[in-house]
Amino acid sequence: MTKDEALKKLKDAGQEHVLKYFDELDSSAKERLLTQIEETDLSVLSHIKDAGKPLQRGVFSPLPVMQRDEIMRREKEFHDAGVKAIKEGKTAALLLAGGMGTRLGSDNPKGMYDIGINKPVYIFQRIIENLLDVVHETDTWIRLYIMTSEVNHDATVNFLKEKNFFGYREDRVTFFKQSMAPACDHNGKLYMEEKGKLFRSPNGNGGWYSSMERVGLDKEMVKEGIEWIDLFAVDNILQRICDPCFVGATVLSNSSVGAKVVKKAARDEKIGVMCLEDGKPSIVEYYDLSEEMMDAKDENNEPAYNFGVILNYLFHVPELNKVSEDKMPLHVVEKKINYMDEEGNFVKPDKPNGYKFEQLVLDMIHQLDTCLPYEVIREHEFAPIKNKTGIDSVESARELALKDGIEL
Ligand code: UTP
Repeated sequence: MTKDEALKKLKDAGQEHVLKYFDELDSSAKERLLTQIEETDLSVLSHIKDAGKPLQRGVFSPLPVMQRDEIMRREKEFHDAGVKAIKEGKTAALLLAGGMGTRLGSDNPKGMYDIGINKPVYIFQRIIENLLDVVHETDTWIRLYIMTSEVNHDATVNFLKEKNFFGYREDRVTFFKQSMAPACDHNGKLYMEEKGKLFRSPNGNGGWYSSMERVGLDKEMVKEGIEWIDLFAVDNILQRICDPCFVGATVLSNSSVGAKVVKKAARDEKIGVMCLEDGKPSIVEYYDLSEEMMDAKDENNEPAYNFGVILNYLFHVPELNKVSEDKMPLHVVEKKINYMDEEGNFVKPDKPNGYKFEQLVLDMIHQLDTCLPYEVIREHEFAPIKNKTGIDSVESARELALKDGIEL
């Protein structure tokens, strides 16, 4: 993009300040800024008028969950079907590791965090070791995709290389970077990070499939014969990945996606609740869950919305092209954003000073026809690390891991 083209794009959006220091930049910085301007979707800025407003939702009804008693009863059938799908190379894993992990407060990618007590145990290591259990059981090196972002890509790749991928076969690991989104102040003015750099942050975990498409990995998956992809978060150190029973249950149910869920620990637990919305599978975030839904009962007098998602989904690859990002809500999130002001001073705000824009993987579920909510046992599969201390923290996850027999 030329400077004139960039100026036109910015002027149309009322963002000319982005080029204020352009003439001071050296040629490579100029080039980089022009590329950023070209790549950046400025239409997201119009969404700030929706900040803080609840999203328009449909009519909710309960979605039956496959619970532990049925899973135990059909364990062999599910397990055999899952092992078959894995051995046939139809199953891949995708680690979502593009997030900023701001709540944990480490400068490094979250996966590099050492949760060990008597020895180093890195979050990445825990996750890879969990996946290795299935690799060894099925004697199949499952393709592992790792989504990073511009911000943490090099650090992630270098760390995993230095640690020899914690025993995973390097040629079975494929990295790709997710897309970035701009950030703006409360009036919709784009933030700059430096004179020649827009402030940008990862655009949420909902952009994973289009990020794969951008680099042709969607086609490669098909070429490789991958039919199922298990997406999971970096921060749940207990979760099982591509575990045969979950894979088999989802495959045999002919669902568009399988979603691991846990029984809620409290009616108002901060966890997204699985349900139907206008007859299609959907997830209601805890902050959108009404009192009526919290207290609703099913025909057995059990809570009707009693299962929450843990960010572990097995998507049926051929159906992913049904998902259109344009139809997924864009979440406008108020955040503290470090930036360079128009005088060239760097500012570190102590309270939220603007908005970031994100799409979320949980919103993909609603665009698919069918979903199998599959119950897992919280104590064995759900130890998320969001914070350093307190709820969903390094402390709580360590305790759960130790109880589960993991040496730290
Ligand atoms: P979170 O929603 O917990 O966000 O991500 P985060 O960025 O890791 O942490 P905070 O909110 O800044 O403290 C859930 C999962 O989605 C991934 C994360 O890496 C994590 O595995 N994620 C999140 C992405 O891959 N990209 C994103 O843009 C956001």
